[in-house]
Amino acid sequence: MSQPEILTEDDAAIHDERFVQVKYDASIPNNVNLESDRQLQRALEEWHPAYLDWWKDMGPDGFQNADVYLRTAVGVDPAGWAKFGHVKMPDYRWGILLAPKVEGRTIPCGRHKGQPAWQEVPGEYRALLRRLIVVQGDTEPASVEQQRFLGRTAPSLYDMRNLFQVNVEEGRHLWAMVYLLVKHFGRDGREEAQALLERRSGEKDNPRILGAFNERTPDWLSFFMFTYFTDRDGKMQLAALAESGFDPLSRSCRFMLTEEAHHLFVGETGVGRTIEATCAAMNKAGITDPYDVERIRALGVVDLPLLQRKANFHMSVTRDLFGSEISSNGAEAFSSGLKGRFNEAKLTDDHELQNETYKVTRVIDGKLVDEDTPALRAINCRLLDDYMTDCQGGIDRWNNIIRKAGIAFEFKQPYKGFNRKIGEFAGTRISPDGEILSEAEWQASSGLWLPNDADMAFITSLMKPCHEPGQYASWIAPPRVGINNQPAEFEYVKIY
Ligand SMILES: [Fe+2]
Ligand SMILES: [Fe+2]
Repeated sequence: MSQPEILTEDDAAIHDERFVQVKYDASIPNNVNLESDRQLQRALEEWHPAYLDWWKDMGPDGFQNADVYLRTAVGVDPAGWAKFGHVKMPDYRWGILLAPKVEGRTIPCGRHKGQPAWQEVPGEYRALLRRLIVVQGDTEPASVEQQRFLGRTAPSLYDMRNLFQVNVEEGRHLWAMVYLLVKHFGRDGREEAQALLERRSGEKDNPRILGAFNERTPDWLSFFMFTYFTDRDGKMQLAALAESGFDPLSRSCRFMLTEEAHHLFVGETGVGRTIEATCAAMNKAGITDPYDVERIRALGVVDLPLLQRKANFHMSVTRDLFGSEISSNGAEAFSSGLKGRFNEAKLTDDHELQNETYKVTRVIDGKLVDEDTPALRAINCRLLDDYMTDCQGGIDRWNNIIRKAGIAFEFKQPYKGFNRKIGEFAGTRISPDGEILSEAEWQASSGLWLPNDADMAFITSLMKPCHEPGQYASWIAPPRVGINNQPAEFEYVKIY
């Protein structure tokens, strides 16, 4: 006869730990050996509940209990990474996923070019590397906070689901950066991870780090413009960090980029469907002049000039995120090998840039002048230029929709220096066409170039919820295909 098992307090504690280990392994999809990394588990055990508190306080307001048709990343191989199903957002399985290791990878740029990529934090660059990770990490929860009230005015369940998908993935991006901090930066990494949950978008005393992430995202047009233009800054920054000589950062960012693509899709198709609804309503009513604003608005759709003004605002605010065009911090991030350029590995120069120059447009004596600048100091300018090129594809596709509808209107990117608050153009008034203006000229015309009060009041008036399956608000066309090929009437969000 065997003795009955007697558990001491210590035994119970071990049991609990094992339970936590298993639970963690089950609830946090990961490919970083979380199950055998006791130190990492301990750090995450502390952070995870704080993260959930943040999500409940600052995540989508009013929909924490809804069942949302979400895609969950559960692996990094093409077959395994996307699983679809209805989930309550607080139960979403936020994971830690790194793109597969590339054997023999070397540092692609800067003074350590060609040396083996770092698997541990390079001591001499510790502070700079930590800062890069924290700044990137801070944008992720910031956008969730900015978008937290949008569910209430969603123009359809399809769009609401896309909003929440973006939100949970930004949450996962925060996890990705927090993983790097707690795994590789010890105590100060844990402190930074905590601080990422404490800053708040738009809060006076403890704001998010970057300006655009403290702006409001008050309506769905702002959301679509944000996901097209501002998430694209995210794409550019992630692409530059994917070139990092610090391999864990590179691998994190490479996987994040696969998710970012969906956010850009949401933005591009959101604006595109808005344009479609406008063009269709104009044609139906026999309106050919896109500036016949009053009649167009009476149809319950957004006039194209207003969309251009919204785009102008989001483009200019997002361009500021690239920092000063000429920057010694930018130079050091590149020279140290911590951050590359966009598509660094595909560029054919020497990847050190000691003797190269790059053209930077500057404001000198009241004139716009292209100046040859040491390329190292112009890294931010170059990433911004690459960003502007990257923005154009979707804008061309929007213009195609308008052209096909037979309406004479074309979206344009405003001049790089338009409405800038950071960098070479800060403090100079410049028109979308690139003309330097006096303050009085700017004041007289800025309402034609940026959303004015009447625009915002009109947009607000359109933001009525449309929460019936298969139904869409007047101002936005249905999508061509459903998520994961679901039928038109599919209930993407079950609201209780
Ligand atoms: Fe993100
Ligand atoms: Fe994003």
